[in-house]
Amino acid sequence: MNPPAYVKHAKLIAWVADMVALCKPDQVYWCDGSEEEYQRLCQQLVDAGTFKKLNPAKRPNSFLACSDPSDVARVEDRTYICSEKKEQAGPTNNWMDPAEMRRTLQPLFDGCMKGRTMYVVPFSMGPLGSPIAHIGIELSDSAYVAVNQRIMTRMGKAVFDVLGADGDFVPCVHTVGAPLAAGQQDVAWPCNATKYIVHYPQTREIWSYGSGYGGNALLGKKCFALRIASNMGRDQGWLAEHMLILGLTNPQGKKYHVAAAFPSACGKTNFSMLVPPAGFDGWKVTTIGDDIAWIKPNAKGELRAINPEAGYFGVAPGTNFHTNPNCMASLDKNVIFTNVALTDDGDVWWEGMEKDTGHLPDHLIDWQGKDWTPAIAKETGAKAAHPNARFTVAATNNPALDSAWDDASGVKIDAFIFGGRRSTTVPLVTQARNWTEGVYMAATMGSETTAAAAGQQGVVRRDPFAMLPFMGYNMSDYFQHWLNMGDKLKTSGANLPAIFCVNWFRKGEDGKFVWPGYGENMRVLKWMIDRVEGQAKGKENVFGISPTYEEITWTGLDFTPAQFQTVTHIDKAAWVEELKLHEVLFTQLAYHLPSELTATKAAIALRLEA
Ligand code: OXD
Ligand code: MN
Repeated sequence: MNPPAYVKHAKLIAWVADMVALCKPDQVYWCDGSEEEYQRLCQQLVDAGTFKKLNPAKRPNSFLACSDPSDVARVEDRTYICSEKKEQAGPTNNWMDPAEMRRTLQPLFDGCMKGRTMYVVPFSMGPLGSPIAHIGIELSDSAYVAVNQRIMTRMGKAVFDVLGADGDFVPCVHTVGAPLAAGQQDVAWPCNATKYIVHYPQTREIWSYGSGYGGNALLGKKCFALRIASNMGRDQGWLAEHMLILGLTNPQGKKYHVAAAFPSACGKTNFSMLVPPAGFDGWKVTTIGDDIAWIKPNAKGELRAINPEAGYFGVAPGTNFHTNPNCMASLDKNVIFTNVALTDDGDVWWEGMEKDTGHLPDHLIDWQGKDWTPAIAKETGAKAAHPNARFTVAATNNPALDSAWDDASGVKIDAFIFGGRRSTTVPLVTQARNWTEGVYMAATMGSETTAAAAGQQGVVRRDPFAMLPFMGYNMSDYFQHWLNMGDKLKTSGANLPAIFCVNWFRKGEDGKFVWPGYGENMRVLKWMIDRVEGQAKGKENVFGISPTYEEITWTGLDFTPAQFQTVTHIDKAAWVEELKLHEVLFTQLAYHLPSELTATKAAIALRLEA
């Protein structure tokens, strides 16, 4: 129960004692982050039936966890931003008065860890001691969380050296909400039908109840690194973004850094590990992060970005040697898989892998433990892996890892990309003519929904900055924060990063994607760099600046001007309709909506009329 001697932080020790008194675990275990501890906890999870050890000849040191079928994704309708006032959370968040939420959670957390161990998980989001990094302590009754956090964050006792006696940390309390009575047999994936993912922005606290899955439970990720950190960023003058960060080196050795926001399950991991196609000899893409960026201006007014995470919690289905060879190589060993299928020889499988082998496996055990065969799949539509099945893997497994990925001072951002998932209307790539127009593009991003969140799929929803489920305060105030950052950087004389909007997902009349995507996105990246270097003129349209066919490097790809037209043309009638939808969004976000955005919309409307 007692903290190890190296923990010197009285406030932290007192807080853990309070939480022990509330949650009443049988034991308290302080994680040190060692390899020995990781192996021990994994073995414990194997013994408990939560983990299955995969065949070491096929997938060394790797495990498969299958969750309860009711606990497979983030629960956005159970996620709350409990700021003092409802307006501070804004119209896109669930809100409850903090005092009322505390009254609601108190009886749920009282005794919630009975019969279980409370793991004290110290973690740093970002390189230990980096001026851009911040520290969290997660208390969780899930060993699955502890081992995942060891991969996803810099977790372990070194965190206490950085914290010292009085350093700041974000307290995160997590329970699966399944206390065990004396002698009660545990289940493989304990959870509770009642779920609460709660953030208190004023006190920078996170409380999570009832789920053991992903962003609901690994509290460093969406809860801290986005929802709480967005509040810290607003107050302290920096940005916490749902963005991958990649390095791009040209054949002359000049390196650029790009941060790109896409909604969940829209290929951020793929893009961050992109392999340049034929015709791009000498170009290199390297990964700094695949999901989240913390971006702080330095004294020179440069925007410096770090990946606060240390691993990838990526969507497995659809990942294969065509879509993401670097990711497949990353998954060779030392991986925790969740909700993928098990092969008869003790390896893993998910939908999309058949593209590599040319055939479906004859037999699998699906993510729910049932027999799966191609015939069953054909008859029932059963998926072998859950569509939101995940891998947890250390960044250091990635062969395309950027040499600066762990650099405490971060990398300088040269361009931002905002990408929606739209089958119509939005062109392949458009550059904003200025910062405000870029903020407008990001604010009005739309996306057809995916499996990363529970609920309906395939419906278009506005997903400003790909932050809709992750904003920790009022969305319009966040737009204002971006505009203010731009103003501040401009007055400091810095060169603002270029801003682009992309859409890989336009479909043709046959309902198929027209743009080949994946590695071919390099062609679009190269045009962006040409723009940054003033080497491509582009062509103005109502929305911004897009490439001409001739400005894209086509070597090695047969993509006709007609196809290019399909993915880039601006259909004026569709844009008139699109602007009406922007208006609906702006009406929803009217409170504190920056006037610059309404003015930008009016300017687009004028251009449309012209
Ligand atoms: C994720 C998500 O897990 O965005 O990254 O849902
Ligand atoms: Mn994400």
